[in-house]
Amino acid sequence: MALLDVSALQVQYGRVTALSGVDLRVGEGEVVTVLGANGAGKSTLLRAILGAVPVRAGGITFDGVDLTRQPPHARIKAGVVLVPEGRRILISLSVEENLLLGAHMRTDSRAIRAEIDAIYQRFPNLGERRHMLASCLSGGEQQMLAIGRAMLAKPRLMMLDEPSLGLSPLFVSKLFDLIRELNRGGLSVLLVEQNTGKALGVAHHATVLELGRVVMAGDPKALAADPRLQEAYLGEGTPAHH
Ligand SMILES: Nc1ncnc2c1ncn2[C@@H]1O[C@H](COP(=O)(O)OP(=O)(O)O)[C@@H](O)[C@H]1O
Ligand SMILES: [Mg+2]
Repeated sequence: MALLDVSALQVQYGRVTALSGVDLRVGEGEVVTVLGANGAGKSTLLRAILGAVPVRAGGITFDGVDLTRQPPHARIKAGVVLVPEGRRILISLSVEENLLLGAHMRTDSRAIRAEIDAIYQRFPNLGERRHMLASCLSGGEQQMLAIGRAMLAKPRLMMLDEPSLGLSPLFVSKLFDLIRELNRGGLSVLLVEQNTGKALGVAHHATVLELGRVVMAGDPKALAADPRLQEAYLGEGTPAHH
């Protein structure tokens, strides 16, 4: 049984069909990446899994429990977190206040303290700025903060929406190192990325969306070698037989 099982998922925004029957599975301990052009429905898929947009048809089960009609807080409690596009850290709060927000459903304050200190050790720039406003961080540091905050919810599945967007090459490397490290620690990851090469490099499985449908899915190495990936990703919609 997969940890996350999304089946025949449909989402509409008014008359716009954003997802029309998407199937996706994330096994325990896996990194699964979702690729596709702008507008393909990637963010909608993550939002639907979190419960931030209503599902029209289809189902979402997590660890065998049907979450399809559960509110977001119940899903977060079950172990699902989303690091949204554009990071959405609170720039008017300090670095540490942002981290503590991630732990707001927990009461084990000593463990929380230890986990925050471990984040500061891994990212000294965050530790040095713990009492400063998060707005003083670079984009890369803000992304690490957003991931650290999500980790403090003690997730079993972390969803990341285009985390490398706008980051310097150095931080892109740091980001993918961090994803690998968290995954080695047992975290399952659902990764939406623009950086196809890096995403396929870290993933156990890959799925490509086009206009709300799965058009390719399978082994990342096979997908990386498939010329149709480039087409789907660039969203040219060119027929294969022109
Ligand atoms: N809040 C919204 N209201 C109406 N349409 C939306 C909304 N969010 C996304 N869409 C539409 O849904 C489709 C999928 O968007 P999205 O999930 O953001 O794609 P991606 O993340 O792959 O770029 C697009 O056609 C987009 O215009
Ligand atoms: Mg998106």
